[in-house]
Amino acid sequence: MERKAFLKTLGAGAAFALTFPCVQGCSKEDGPGLPVPTGVDFTIDLTSSEGAMLANNGDFILKNEVVVVKNLEGNFIAASQICSHQQTDQVRFIEDEGGIFSCSTHGSRFSQTGAPLNAITNNPLKIFNTELNGDILRVFD
Ligand code: FES
Repeated sequence: MERKAFLKTLGAGAAFALTFPCVQGCSKEDGPGLPVPTGVDFTIDLTSSEGAMLANNGDFILKNEVVVVKNLEGNFIAASQICSHQQTDQVRFIEDEGGIFSCSTHGSRFSQTGAPLNAITNNPLKIFNTELNGDILRVFD
């Protein structure tokens, strides 16, 4: 199907949205504006099936809108799954540059301390505390 025909099948509104996603410039108001998690305090039993998904360096899970990571050195770290750019929930851990957080929505990248690594945003990514007691990993504000 040709592009024009494809867009026609979507209807004018959808075609406009697909063609001009940031026609007046992307701003915070254009994003879904999901709230950055606050008051976070949960635990993960590393011997559970959930915890098993954090067995290897570089593994991460998403829980309560937090990205919980076993970084490439084997330390547990955690960051907001909600991006500091336009508040989508697309933040993940990737193994580039020794391990960083990255948001696929517009390409923001953040260090493990939440510092922005490119010009997409100047807003730091929220980082949470982690504490390991035996096999119990606590993630908290
Ligand atoms: S919402 Fe824009 S990079 Fe994450």
